[in-house]
Amino acid sequence: MRHKLHRYIIFCSVVLCVTLCSVSAFAQEDTYLKVDAFGSLERPVSMFDHDAHNEKAMIEDCAECHHVYENGKLVEGESSEDRGCADCHTLKAQGNQPGLRMAYHKQCKSCHVEKKKGPVACGECHVKR
Ligand code: HEC
Ligand code: HEC
Ligand code: HEC
Ligand code: HEC
Repeated sequence: MRHKLHRYIIFCSVVLCVTLCSVSAFAQEDTYLKVDAFGSLERPVSMFDHDAHNEKAMIEDCAECHHVYENGKLVEGESSEDRGCADCHTLKAQGNQPGLRMAYHKQCKSCHVEKKKGPVACGECHVKR
């Protein structure tokens, strides 16, 4: 009888463990920004919890990040929210269109500097896991 209870307790702890592990793995995927276009990475992927970030930062206009340009002019009221940055920004810059790494860094950091809020040091975004 005691033996059976033991096995039951072990079984329950294993189930709990597996559940907790998969829940935290899901949570982490949304918290980091993995961009396939870079290929192998030099740094740990940057932190970016899309919806939570934009809510906390109180950014209402999607086009503030998901912009659309036509002939070098920003198109007001239009957004490219259905596309990744890498759809337009190639690894190397093209004219005024910054290369992919610079695109992220310029957009992310310049707002943090301007608002005096949010990380600007490498290790604050590229956090080791
Ligand atoms: C602070 C900047 C920022 C704001 C504001 C923002 N996004 Fe994003 N969004 C991103 C970044 C960065 C990605 C990842 C793009 C990538 O993978 O290159 C992304 C990805 C997405 C994607 C997935 C696109 C894809 O196919 O790869 C969707 C959909 C999206 N955002 C919708 C929205 C909507 C809707 C809003 C407004 C309510 C919004 N975003 C506001 C930065 C932002
Ligand atoms: C539909 C194509 C397209 C998408 C998608 C796009 N960009 Fe751009 N981006 C451009 C073009 C074109 C320019 C150059 C504008 C000019 O001629 O000055 C530009 C310029 C920029 C610049 C420099 C000017 C500025 O606004 O500070 C940054 C930074 C930038 N993009 C970041 C991003 C990021 C980050 C994303 C993803 C969230 C993104 N872009 C998505 C087309 C795009
Ligand atoms: C238009 C302004 C703006 C842009 C663009 C922006 N941020 Fe932020 N970010 C903020 C503000 C404001 C905060 C501080 C929010 C707070 O804690 O009140 C912040 C906070 C953060 C934080 C701290 C944790 C958190 O979620 O609050 C991280 C990480 C971050 N930003 C990453 C990014 C990345 C990566 C990008 C580019 C893809 C980006 N941000 C683009 C305004 C911006
Ligand atoms: C505000 C957040 C932020 C800060 C600060 C920041 N980065 Fe990034 N960085 C990003 C984002 C977002 C990307 C694109 C997603 C990714 O790969 O992490 C990126 C991409 C990169 C990449 C290309 C992908 C790779 O890992 O090979 C390198 C290299 C890089 N950053 C280095 C740096 C260095 C060095 C610093 C400090 C001088 C720095 N970053 C500061 C957000 C940031």
